[in-house]
Amino acid sequence: MNDFRVAPARLDGNGYSILEDASLAGRNTLRVNARAALLVDVRNTDALAEVLAFPLIARQPLLVLGEGSNMLLTGDVPGAVLTLSTRGITITAESNGQVLVRAQAGENWNELVHWTLGHGLSGLENLALIPGTVGAAPIQNIGAYGVELGEFVDQVEAWDRQSGVLVQLDQAACGFAYRDSIFKRDPARYIVTALQLRLSRTPSLRLDYAGVREELTAMDAGEPTPPLVAEAISRLRRRKLPDPALIGNAGSFFKNPIVDAASALGLKQQHATLPLWPLPDGRCKLSAAWLIEQSGFKGMREGDAGIAAQHALVLVNHGQASGAALWAFAQRVQSGVAQRFGVLLEAEPRIV
Ligand code: FAD
Ligand code: EPU
Repeated sequence: MNDFRVAPARLDGNGYSILEDASLAGRNTLRVNARAALLVDVRNTDALAEVLAFPLIARQPLLVLGEGSNMLLTGDVPGAVLTLSTRGITITAESNGQVLVRAQAGENWNELVHWTLGHGLSGLENLALIPGTVGAAPIQNIGAYGVELGEFVDQVEAWDRQSGVLVQLDQAACGFAYRDSIFKRDPARYIVTALQLRLSRTPSLRLDYAGVREELTAMDAGEPTPPLVAEAISRLRRRKLPDPALIGNAGSFFKNPIVDAASALGLKQQHATLPLWPLPDGRCKLSAAWLIEQSGFKGMREGDAGIAAQHALVLVNHGQASGAALWAFAQRVQSGVAQRFGVLLEAEPRIV
């Protein structure tokens, strides 16, 4: 294998390409202007083993990058950045109205949602319009409007960098939790290559999240169906969240904090309007957006870094903010909320 110190700036192999000193500016939705020493794109899963064995890639940290919609790059990436542009969605099995759908990691998530709806399958409708790739979806167990990806996962196929083979992980092995999984907890280990989901021909609609029924009523389209629910969710999302095409952001920048019942009760007694959701294990999830807004950060701006005026949970780049400036502002929000409410907010995106 070539050593890239003497190799050309771009190398095209069978099923992959490698670019030296590549810009990541258009590859992260916070629109941070950062560079990667190497940008490796794999178009065919079979090429992964060969690419990962290249000495220059094997001996330095590797960052897997999807569409960069849940990542804050605080500076240039000194090692290799790996993207997967593998494509393909197929139905792999069907029985008794249960359908297994397999999608390659490089597919776009929202396109997969619409592919399944177009094939008469239900399950993913509440997860419509979440940005990003299929491969990234299990990393933080994407969730929205009362549904999380994990419940539909039959298998995640991943390259295990520890054993150097492709493995199939069933739902239990993925350790899914709120915005969490084994993949997020141990980011250096797995490269997700494909997702197999268990969907249904018989809809079982989830309409209880605040605003969903109202949106369906406003659409005046009759009896709800999975495609209509996806449309209602998409409308809600477009209204509530700033569009990364117009202003750099990574969706919710903090997770909704989970606290024990006694702390939740104490906060609720002091702040009657704090939204909270009791969890089955007795703990409570609090609204991070509410805590941030009440701490005075909503719409605040420092240079080009700020909190969206539209939604208090969204860190925004008004133009030229560096990753370091965005992270500094986020930490200011974190300490403001900790001082006011004694609650520690945890960042949701990967901070690189
Ligand atoms: P990236 O941001 O590129 O990567 C995210 C993490 O996954 C990184 O740690 C990366 O290393 C890792 N990763 C990516 N691909 C792979 C792979 N193939 N194998 C191993 N690791 C990998 N999220 C929600 O859960 N619910 C929402 O409602 C939601 N709304 C959003 C709205 C907006 C406007 C935005 C910008 C983001 C939103 N997000 C939401 C966050 C984001 O859409 C998801 O986390 C998404 O899954 C990220 O996909 P990505 O391809 O952009 O991943
Ligand atoms: N709220 C405020 N101020 C605001 C915005 C919201 O006080 O500026 C309050 C609202 O009054 C509401 C509560 O916060 O009672 C919840 O708001 P919303 O329904 O917008 O949900 P969220 O908790 O802010 C979560 C997810 C989103 C997901 C939506 C819908 C997290 C961290 N965020 O947001 O996911 O789309 O619910 O299910 O769990 C993401 O992860 O990137 C993301 C966007």
